[in-house]
Amino acid sequence: MTPPAAEYLALVREILEHDRRYYVEHAATISDFEYDQLYRRLRELEAAHPELVVAHSPTRRVGFEPLSAFVKVERAVPMLSLDNTYSAEELTAFHERVLRGLEGETPAYVVEPKIDGISIELTYARGELMLGATRGDGRTGEDVTLNLRTIRALPPLLAEPVDVVVRGEVYMDRSALVTINAAREAEGEEPFKNPRNATGGSLKLLDSSVVAKRPLKVSLYEVVGDSFNASHWAALAWLRKLGLPTPPGVERCADLAGVLGLVETWQDKRRTLPFDIDGLVVKVDSYAQRRTLGATAKAPRWAIAYKYQPERAETVILDVEHSVGRTGTVTPVAWLSPVELSGTTVKRAGLHNYEDLARKQLRIGDRVIIEKAGEIIPQIVSVVAHADAPVIGPPDGCPSCGHALVREEGEVALRCPNSLSCPAQIVMSIQFFCHRGAMNIENVGYKLVLQLCEKGLIKDVADLFALEVGQLAELDRMGEKSAENVVKAIDKARQSATLSRLLTALGIRHVGGVAAQAIARRYRSLAAMLSESEGGDAEKMHATLDDVPGVGEVIAAAVAEFFADARNRTLLGKLQARGVDPVEPEEAPRTGPLAGVTICVTGKLSRPRGDLERDIVAAGGTFHKSVTKTTQYLVAGADTGDTKLASARKHGTKVIDEAGLGQLLAGQPLE
Ligand code: IVH
Repeated sequence: MTPPAAEYLALVREILEHDRRYYVEHAATISDFEYDQLYRRLRELEAAHPELVVAHSPTRRVGFEPLSAFVKVERAVPMLSLDNTYSAEELTAFHERVLRGLEGETPAYVVEPKIDGISIELTYARGELMLGATRGDGRTGEDVTLNLRTIRALPPLLAEPVDVVVRGEVYMDRSALVTINAAREAEGEEPFKNPRNATGGSLKLLDSSVVAKRPLKVSLYEVVGDSFNASHWAALAWLRKLGLPTPPGVERCADLAGVLGLVETWQDKRRTLPFDIDGLVVKVDSYAQRRTLGATAKAPRWAIAYKYQPERAETVILDVEHSVGRTGTVTPVAWLSPVELSGTTVKRAGLHNYEDLARKQLRIGDRVIIEKAGEIIPQIVSVVAHADAPVIGPPDGCPSCGHALVREEGEVALRCPNSLSCPAQIVMSIQFFCHRGAMNIENVGYKLVLQLCEKGLIKDVADLFALEVGQLAELDRMGEKSAENVVKAIDKARQSATLSRLLTALGIRHVGGVAAQAIARRYRSLAAMLSESEGGDAEKMHATLDDVPGVGEVIAAAVAEFFADARNRTLLGKLQARGVDPVEPEEAPRTGPLAGVTICVTGKLSRPRGDLERDIVAAGGTFHKSVTKTTQYLVAGADTGDTKLASARKHGTKVIDEAGLGQLLAGQPLE
């Protein structure tokens, strides 16, 4: 019989190979059923032999625990940017600069689509994915390894055990954005403006199990260092051989004419791709020639971007509406005479803010140019001819409640500060309270909340819990049956409410789901939170929250202020009186030698960081990605950065070595 370790490792490789065929080559060689059988067997083996589990196992695509922050990553070779060109003339000028730089040698070029996503750098050691980081400012990025691991097309283990650093783009199809935005809007969240923002937003999520649900894609287009291959063309082929996805439709051109031909071809062809590309990247193929050409501080001299002009159309402004969001932000939106733009009929356009509006001196009836550069809602970019009408300015007061608008320091947005009695904000915040990620009250959406508020049936979220079937049944498009369903859904939410859901649902500034959970774990019940802030005392709660991992200064202040405010306390009391008095369920207690112990690991160690993380968690411990005030131990490997050591000193974290960690794992005390 095969020993379990051998069977296990072979199975891991086999499943990863099927992942590659399915997600990278789009050519599966086994059925879903057969794949599921293999996966099930892997899970069985891992359950029976937890000591065998490797970090690159397909079951480890999702991190164990939400992070509280991303660790900064310094890189030796900065990630540069690219200079842009917009015409055949500018591309020709680039080619001439290259020719001069190469003193007579002729370059061949590789032309790649310039995918509009988020650039990342991946470090593989002996073929294993060790680190994935964002570009950041070029030199310092953020460690988003756990989030990148969730991308199915990205192999955690390469086909060969090489040490290599590669760079590429994470992105998302346009259709994925539509699905994500529909879900966000249903939950009362701001939709993402374009696939690029949605990708960036996804990589910044602290909980990788949420990232795993986002259909992110990845394409690798550069190998750092030139010792592996003689040319970029060869390097791309090598990346594919290693199992990494490379950009679609890459071509090699022997001369400039070929490059200009591709610029023509992609002009229309780019629209047939399921994702956005904003241009092409033209790269000198030979690494020897790249070395000769070198780079400026900002961009390489051997590559250039060719950017397509975003599509534009001319139309007329029919009206400008001022809409009020949940947090009181007032934004201008223009209604347009309908016009075709990149295959859709456009009726509305965004104006960034009131400063933008003032700069453009817009009037109703103006002929304007609108542009769509990847966004869903096009923007007004310039005016062709002004109409003879007054310049549109910000409204005198809130368009919903008439309250004077304020501009917060350092912010361009105008806001209505009357959050507790502004009708528009009340409707939006009650809808937000009900959304799936908050109290999860099914069947209660924007239109119903609007009607309930307009008819005076509810004034705040607590009133939802006193609604009766008879009242609801009389509303438009609502029969007895639907009214019953709404009451049932409200009752279900009352019964199943947890403190973290309630904290999220209240829409306290800066408090999202992750922070709400951290706070709820600390207090356990609404009653405990109210009692600590009794009499409107914010200080005590502020101090308590300061000590909760994952809760920063801004969040601590916002929550403490919210609980100290008499009007909020009245609302929370009303909720309690109507049966919404939630507690946070206890988590299963962790057992093992490291139960209750928090550890951060850094520097070069004898084993991959992912392996150590697995061991710590398996022993009941909590793995911290960075040193925070609650990190008890920092395991410092070789080359540990000064910043890490300084934060350990600051927080009183004990610095130990790998042997020390071994002792802790074995349940032996450290002297
Ligand atoms: S090469 C030094 N290749 O465009 C070389 N970049 O405007 C730098 N991008 O930051 C990058 N597709 O995010 C390269 N095939 C491609 C690309 C690409 C998209 C992005 C990348 C970069 C930005 C520069």
